[in-house]
Amino acid sequence: MTLSEVASTASARQACQEAPFYQPVGNECELFEHAYRQRLPLLLKGPTGCGKTRFVSHMAARLGKPLFTVSCHDDLTAADLTGRYLLQGGETRWVDGPLTRAVREGGICYLDEVVEARKDVTVVLHPLTDDRRLLPLERTGELLEAPDDFMLVVSYNPGYQHILKSLKPSTRQRFVAQTFGFPPPAVERDIVARESGLSADRCSALVNLAARLRDMKGQDLEEGVSTRLLVYCATLIVAGMPIMQAARATLVEPLSDDDDVQEGLMEAIEATFGG
Ligand SMILES: Nc1ncnc2c1ncn2[C@@H]1O[C@H](COP(=O)(O)OP(=O)(O)O)[C@@H](O)[C@H]1O
Ligand SMILES: [Mg+2]
Repeated sequence: MTLSEVASTASARQACQEAPFYQPVGNECELFEHAYRQRLPLLLKGPTGCGKTRFVSHMAARLGKPLFTVSCHDDLTAADLTGRYLLQGGETRWVDGPLTRAVREGGICYLDEVVEARKDVTVVLHPLTDDRRLLPLERTGELLEAPDDFMLVVSYNPGYQHILKSLKPSTRQRFVAQTFGFPPPAVERDIVARESGLSADRCSALVNLAARLRDMKGQDLEEGVSTRLLVYCATLIVAGMPIMQAARATLVEPLSDDDDVQEGLMEAIEATFGG
């Protein structure tokens, strides 16, 4: 993967614009702001689709800082974050990666699903996440000191990830951390209503259904239905799709490939919306 691909698929410098909607569940906004002001790195833990990415873009916009987001994957190396020499017009030129840009220019660097990345990435993160706040660029011989308005935020999902793919304590203990979960029902109803335009009453019914489906987790279901999927479901209903069809496409099919599990989920949905 080339750096420009990383830049276009994963890293976006978000201009200081109006903060995208984020409904706080607890005091996570205050925690983020304290961590930022005290120059501490932040670790967000939680299942997929519960608002981590939205939270980070909301906070970056609120603080008026550019956001450099990188979706980590198992091919992602330290050089994808720091930068590399590229051949451009017959010349080799050093091109900063998203992490280096955030350190040079100031801003928030968000490494989504950080445990997916190659091991050499932690080597880069360690000196940045202690009080030195340094980014050594071996290839250019530079040693960058992070400015006060640089912040590192990482996320991972402790639920589905393999024990081998958990964060090592020596890495984890460098971060201030916050767990994200599914929001309480009244908050989730408001989020789904706001995101989809579906009435609060009907969103309430969806959120109650989600609670029932989430109780079925464990029985061959790796993860409960996310807030994101509830927003999808409500969006399709608003667009005119029949409820049962919307529910199958958003609350059943994305969760499991297993016929029996799907049938169990559909039964719970029919008990709520059927007839
Ligand atoms: N607290 C929240 N405030 C606003 N929207 C939320 C919230 N939680 C979840 N969402 C909705 O769920 C979607 C998925 O959230 P996202 O931040 O992408 O999840 P994650 O990064 O945890 O996988 C968002 O696009 C948004 O529509
Ligand atoms: Mg995300």
